[in-house]
Order: sequence, then C-alpha cells, then structure tokens
Amino acid sequence: MQQSELDFIQSLRQSSHYIEQHRGKTCVIYLPGDLLQNADALLCLSKDITLLHTLGLKLVLAMGATQQINHALAQQQIQWQQHQQCRITTLEMLPIFQQIIGQVRSQLEAVFCQASNQQNKPLSLVSGNWVIAQPKGVVDGVDFQHTGQLRKINRDAIQACLDSSQIVLLTPLAYSLTGEVFNLNTLEQACAIAEQLQADKLMIFQKPQRYATLPPALNQTQIHGLLPSLEIKTKQLFERIQKLGKSVSRVHLINSADPSSLLLELFTRDGTGCMIFSDRYHQIRPATIEDVGGILEVIAPLEQKGVLVKRSRERLELEIHNFIVIERDRSIIGCAALYANYQNSGELACLAVHSDYRGQELGEQLLQEIEKTARTHGLAQLFLLTTHTHHWFIEHGFKLATPNELPQEKQQLYNYQRNSKVLIKPLKTENKD
Ligand SMILES: CC(C)(COP(=O)(O)OP(=O)(O)OC[C@H]1O[C@@H](n2cnc3c(N)ncnc32)[C@H](O)[C@@H]1OP(=O)(O)O)[C@@H](O)C(=O)NCCC(=O)NCCS
Repeated sequence: MQQSELDFIQSLRQSSHYIEQHRGKTCVIYLPGDLLQNADALLCLSKDITLLHTLGLKLVLAMGATQQINHALAQQQIQWQQHQQCRITTLEMLPIFQQIIGQVRSQLEAVFCQASNQQNKPLSLVSGNWVIAQPKGVVDGVDFQHTGQLRKINRDAIQACLDSSQIVLLTPLAYSLTGEVFNLNTLEQACAIAEQLQADKLMIFQKPQRYATLPPALNQTQIHGLLPSLEIKTKQLFERIQKLGKSVSRVHLINSADPSSLLLELFTRDGTGCMIFSDRYHQIRPATIEDVGGILEVIAPLEQKGVLVKRSRERLELEIHNFIVIERDRSIIGCAALYANYQNSGELACLAVHSDYRGQELGEQLLQEIEKTARTHGLAQLFLLTTHTHHWFIEHGFKLATPNELPQEKQQLYNYQRNSKVLIKPLKTENKD
C-alpha cells in the first residue's frame, strides 16, 4: 500500500470519532463576502458544506456581501458614510444592495447544485423572510436610514427547515413588519440565530490576524480578561461572542482565506483556528509551585490505594516543572507529568483526574497535552508504568510492552515486585492528529 493510501486510511480513522460526535448537531456558519468572491474557494467551500450536510449536521449559513457591495457602489460612484463602524444605507443604495445580494445568493445556489450533484439526494438551500428587522434609528444625531437591526427571528420556521434536512441561508437583507427592506449585519444575525437555536457550534470565518495571537482554546472568563487589550474590530467580535454566554457551546474562529479550515477545525483534534467554549470551564496549563498542594489532594487518595506510586511533597516541589494541571474555578482537578529525559523517549507519569470529575474526557485532554509537549521536545515515543489503568491507555493508542523495551536507565529502576504493566506509544511528529 502506498504512503498516501495509508495516510488516507489513518485520517479517516482519526476523524471517525468526530463524525459521530457532530452527527445531528446544529451548526451556524458565517460566510463573509470576501470568502465568496473567489470561484475556486467557493466551490471548495460548498463541497465541504455539502459533506457536513451528508454527515448529518444541521446547517445554517449566514452570508455576507460587504466587498461585493463596496465594489458595486464604487463602480456607480456612490459615496457612502459610516458611523460607529456601521454603514449608513440610504434609500438610493437599497436597490444596489438588493441586486448584489441577490447575485451572491444566486451564485451560492448555483455552486451548491454543482457541489451536490454527486449526492444521492438533491440538497436544498433555502432562504426566506425569517428575520424581522427594525430601523437602527438615529444615533448621535446620525440617521442610519435603511440600516436595520434585528427585531425577532422566526425560529420555528428555521428549525422546521433544518429538521427536514434543508440548509438554511440567511442574507444581509431583512424586512420590517411595515414591509420595508433593511440591510442587516450578517455576523450579528449569525450570532442571534445561533443563540436562539441553542446551536452546538458557530463557525465564524475571519481574518487570521483577529485571533492569531490568542491561545487555540479560550473560555468565556478568559475572553473577559482579554477584551481591554484587543483592537477595536477584534474587541467587537469578542464582545459579541461573549454575549452568547452558554447558549452556544462552542464558537470557532477560522481562516477566511482558506475554506478548508472548516473541515480541519471540525475533524482534527487541534483544529486550525481559535475555539471559545462555554461548556467547559477549565484550563490546562503548566503547573507552578503554588499548585503542589492541589496536586497532592488529587493524587493522595490514589497513592493510598496503590494506584499511583507515593511522591513526597519535597519531590513534587523539585519536579513541578514536569507537571501540567487542569484548573477549574481555581481548584486543581487533574494533573499529569512528562519526564522527557530519556533520549528520544519520555515517561508519562502521575496522570490523574479527581474522582468527582472523571468521565468528562479530562484524562484524555491531559494525555493529549502531554503528547503535544512531547512532540515539541522531539520525542519519538511515550512510555509509562501502571498497575491499574492499562486498558485505558490501550484505548488511547498505547501498546503493552515488556520491561526490557524501556529505556536503559528506567529498566534498572523497574520494580519487579510491583510488577507494573509497561505501555508504549509512538508519537507522530508532523501530523497534528
Ligand atoms: C485514568 C483517568 C486519568 C481517566 O480520567 P477521565 O477524565 O475519567 O478519562 P476520560 O473521561 O477521558 O475517560 C473515561 C473512560 O475511561 C474509563 N476508565 C477509567 N479508568 C479506567 C481504567 N482503569 N481502565 C479502563 N478504563 C478506565 C472510564 O470507565 C470511562 O469509560 P467510558 O467513557 O466508556 O465510560 C482517571 O480514571 C484516573 O485518574 N484514574 C486514576 C489514576 C490512574 O490510574 N492514572 C494512570 C496511571 S499514570
């Protein structure tokens, strides 16, 4: 078998877990106008969205058309104003908006026909007058005219479309109860729909500079701390995300210059963008000397049961730089250590999750973090000794080995009376999975 075929099979196996996890979940995707300008990117994106639909995700697309509208206004030499970073839509501009947004929508519909022509069932992309707008009004003496704001959403109608396997498309146009047409910010709509549908995911295509300096995963509390340091546009984006609170489990910021970032974010472990989660309130971080007490509280009951080897406080203090911890609400609820001092092998030790928090994949996240660190150290494999937990590790890619497969220095310390199981897992360096 060729390497490319092996890689394909490997990727398929690794993504199967995510395929199962995402099935039936509701996902709102914000597509900014610039992403829809490039024909190749658009076809690639529509194929990927069709794939998500085939895999059972319920999808709402919120399309923007800012660049296309800017271009059309410039061509017709129409000057436009903005206030508070928001465009003022005059009556004169409205027909141009309707025309351009209609064109972008038609392009999307066409490309989805092309993308779904290999599917057994035709895919329907539907849009409608589900979003009710009201005028943004006069702010600081400035009349926003036909720039609107969201008044309400016909959630049930959208949900009915999703439940009958249709993809819902929202455009930047919405209508008032008096029958007027308004231009609405599509990102605002995407957030509002995600909130009302209690979506599992909101995927926001963005310029990478908006999130490149941020950690790959953040919780709502961390966003709050970051806000003062962010530039205005990024700050507005994060304020919007913050307002979603717990109603949307995860918001993902993904690269608007690369449509494939959608699948990478959803089907690889580390993703490519920045994820803001409201369903987990913990962080994994390197341990500091202040964490020694918390770590001891987690491991002491396990030491008493003989599950973990006893470590004194002094030893733990000396070795604290090898540890990572999971902190939730200022308490340590899990830990793990990596001893990277065996040539190309590293020892995983002291992986433990407080008994109140087991079964939430925290152990798995700690293991993933240790593996990531081991890869950055250039280690080729991880090994560990365990008396009680070898099945868990086998389920996480380790293989049973013999003591003489351990690094020389470790073999000499192997305690034959304790008779621990030896487990080894090779690490792939280049692949994030
Ligand atoms: C092993 C451990 C870290 C897993 O933490 P966790 O956060 O509960 O892990 P996850 O949520 O990722 O996995 C939970 C699954 O592992 C299973 N599991 C837990 N301990 C196991 C064991 N000893 N053997 C086999 N499976 C085990 C659970 O039954 C659960 O399975 P399920 O999803 O089918 O219900 C945690 O159980 C622990 O702290 N154990 C004691 C310490 C230990 O043995 N450490 C390893 C030696 S270094």
